Amino acid sequence: MSKLQKVRGTRDLYGLEKQKFRFIESAAFGQAQRFGYSEIETPIFEFSEVFHRSLGETSDAVSKETYTFSDRGGDSLTLRPEGTAGVARAFISEGMTQELPLKLYYYGPMFRYERPQKGRYRQFYQIGVENLGPSTYLADVESLQLAWSFLKQLGLKDSCILEINTLGDVDSRTKYRERLVEYLLPLQSQLSLDSQTRLLKNPLRILDSKDANDQKLLEGAPTLKESLSEESRVFFDSIIKHLTKLNIPFVVNEKLVRGLDYYCHTVFEFTTTLLGAQSAILSGGRYDGLIETLGGPKTPGVGWAAGVDRLADLVNESLLPHRPAPICILPADEKGEELCSAVAQVVREQNHTVEILTSGNFGKKMKRADKLHASHVIILGETELKENKLVIKDMKTSEQKEISLPALKDFFK
Ligand code: HAM
Repeated sequence: MSKLQKVRGTRDLYGLEKQKFRFIESAAFGQAQRFGYSEIETPIFEFSEVFHRSLGETSDAVSKETYTFSDRGGDSLTLRPEGTAGVARAFISEGMTQELPLKLYYYGPMFRYERPQKGRYRQFYQIGVENLGPSTYLADVESLQLAWSFLKQLGLKDSCILEINTLGDVDSRTKYRERLVEYLLPLQSQLSLDSQTRLLKNPLRILDSKDANDQKLLEGAPTLKESLSEESRVFFDSIIKHLTKLNIPFVVNEKLVRGLDYYCHTVFEFTTTLLGAQSAILSGGRYDGLIETLGGPKTPGVGWAAGVDRLADLVNESLLPHRPAPICILPADEKGEELCSAVAQVVREQNHTVEILTSGNFGKKMKRADKLHASHVIILGETELKENKLVIKDMKTSEQKEISLPALKDFFK
């Protein structure tokens, strides 16, 4: 029988990698709580329509990358490619519409059938935050402030830069879309195949095409900026002013449009040069029309999601919290073995990590305790146990003490 392999684009997370994930998750949750967010967990799969309606039929995430299947009841279900659509669906179906403003954060796996490479997986993990309700630019600023505090806590302040742009309100976008199509139509046959299909369905996406020739053709294209309504311009300028005031480094990238259809006004990405092609580590924006698209009441929103797999590649190991030094129990003979589990329990109840070392001779056990950086070892041998005693060795000072068994209850408090 051939050996079973993991599915392409999936990963087993363990050891240092898993420790980094845990560290990133708890840093994010700590920061999100400081900004008044509370946790939500939505299902890993939803009716396919939830994603089709919110991300847009022509977005890559929906048109090429979803894991969609019919369940045994005949419903079309999709493994979530991202978290915002599910949160918006929950907001409507759980009747949270009366609880605005609502700040929610989440963590979990997402699924996209992309071509796997370093930093790009088919099952990957996101931490996301969504602020539903506020239409003020101050909510965008706060969302960016939260992202920056989080990235700073991960020690990534000097490894990334915020790229930001505005798509403007719906009118500005529609106006721009028309102008862009007018400019590109005569050049249609020279565009890459991907861009040709996007031209009529989702022309704004052509702006961030990776094709060099597309970019050349775009050099003379009208810019989004020229089509912005006065209101959209003021909205964006206010955000920029605040970013400067808050010392959050940024660049305005007029070509940044983002791949999902639900955005309007602000779009942003924190990018890094340290991860090769997969440069976006945290991205998001404003999505004032999304909830309505899904059948809910008009409710503005702004948020972002960070790619935990990518952050883990950047986070320095030295920031990980130290694991507490264990206390090791070394049974020296059969009598010691009989008692070791009960002794371990007494020490664990004093809030310590305890490891019982049973394999090999006494010398081997001591070596293993050293390797585990044990703070103490407890030696359980028949001679001492007969007198209701045990031996505790402090591994730092090498000092050895004999104590009575009942005294162990408080010894490590
Ligand atoms: P997104 O840009 O599609 O946005 O994904 C957010 C982040 O997830 C990216 O910046 C990247 O770090 C990570 N990511 C995406 N695809 C992969 C992959 N295949 N492998 C590893 N990491 C990946 C969203 O998902 C929006 N829901 C963000 C948002 C929330 N906008 C408003 N609220």
